[in-house]
Amino acid sequence: MYPENVTVINHPLVQHKISMLRDIHTGTNEFRRLTEEIAMLMGYEALRDLPLEDVEITTPLETCMTPMIAGKKLAVVPILRAGLGMVSGILALTPSAKVGHIGLFRDPETHEPHEYYCKLPDPIDLRTIVVTDPMLATGGSAVAAVDFIKQHGGKTIKFMSIIAAPEGLERLSKAHSDIQIYCGHVDRQLNENAYICPGLGDAGDRIFGTK
Ligand code: PRP
Ligand code: URA
Repeated sequence: MYPENVTVINHPLVQHKISMLRDIHTGTNEFRRLTEEIAMLMGYEALRDLPLEDVEITTPLETCMTPMIAGKKLAVVPILRAGLGMVSGILALTPSAKVGHIGLFRDPETHEPHEYYCKLPDPIDLRTIVVTDPMLATGGSAVAAVDFIKQHGGKTIKFMSIIAAPEGLERLSKAHSDIQIYCGHVDRQLNENAYICPGLGDAGDRIFGTK
């Protein structure tokens, strides 16, 4: 049903928490907590192919070779602002990951993304890079962010969004068929202002309590 590089994390806990996020009565504090929790649950699935290496550990009984995550080669890259809300959830799973930032905002008229900041961990080419943004709407921001990361040398990229519109999912998966895309739910459609319906409104404003 979805392109091969798309995984919808259809887990009851994720679906339940997304429903709470959608609720207009969910305030900033709870919205932030839910965003973090969903990112952690999604991260558990999205990171299931992280490479392992056997290391020597001494238990109280004997010494054995046992698997641990190989190296410190993970980077989390939120798309500012809203993607920031997902970072702590991923870092709870992988505390030694480096964190980069890509600053993009959508022009309210054209809905096209504009870059205002980009700082990535160096070197980036050997890392698994998890790009976070709760909303994948037209896909313009996601495509631009992945473009930037590839221009800087990023190769292994996973894009994680909580809610996606079918339009954005198709655009991102076509533009970057070599990345893995994870989302919590695929909503019905975009409206005339390129907002996701039913969606949850403006994720950045709801996470940071702005408007
Ligand atoms: C939102 C959202 C995505 C983008 C999605 O950010 O967090 O980055 O829009 O839309 P698209 O798929 O059509 O590009 P916004 O530009 O509102 O900035 P903010 O995170 O600072 O609120
Ligand atoms: N950005 C958001 O925060 N929400 C949408 O529905 C679309 C873009």
